[in-house]
Amino acid sequence: MDKSEKLALILSMMLLSLFFGAIVYASMARNIEVPTCITDVEPFLTDTLFQTGPDEYELQMVARMWAFQPSVIRLPKGSTLNLYLTSQDIIHGFKVERKNVNLMAAPGAINYLQVTFDEAGEYKFACHEFCGAAHHTMAGRFIIEDDSNEPETAE
Ligand code: CUA
Repeated sequence: MDKSEKLALILSMMLLSLFFGAIVYASMARNIEVPTCITDVEPFLTDTLFQTGPDEYELQMVARMWAFQPSVIRLPKGSTLNLYLTSQDIIHGFKVERKNVNLMAAPGAINYLQVTFDEAGEYKFACHEFCGAAHHTMAGRFIIEDDSNEPETAE
């Protein structure tokens, strides 16, 4: 092995360790949740939103060409949402503005993330994985309400 090959190998190992260290640091020291692919939830292909406790909700969301179901989600302020995401067809992405939510929606898999909405307002979300002709229309929003206690979904 020549000298430059060795150097490239050492540098790439150092970079890998650095990236891995950054993930460990984010999840341990900064308490940032890393998205998880879960295996203990029954597969679903229809969307559901239900309350699981005071200020706690569960959303099963389905991505498909070219929409999210549901596309409008109303929740009261202070809600913690357990979000389960899957796809009906191909790989999509899911990103919520102003929130640390960035998931992939993959057919046959369910990805999970927990998010809390402490402030009222509108949080738009969109597909961030190019998924075909109408990818740019694949979006929706969370509407976080100040007073209401009843969650609703609408298409
Ligand atoms: Cu779905 Cu882009």
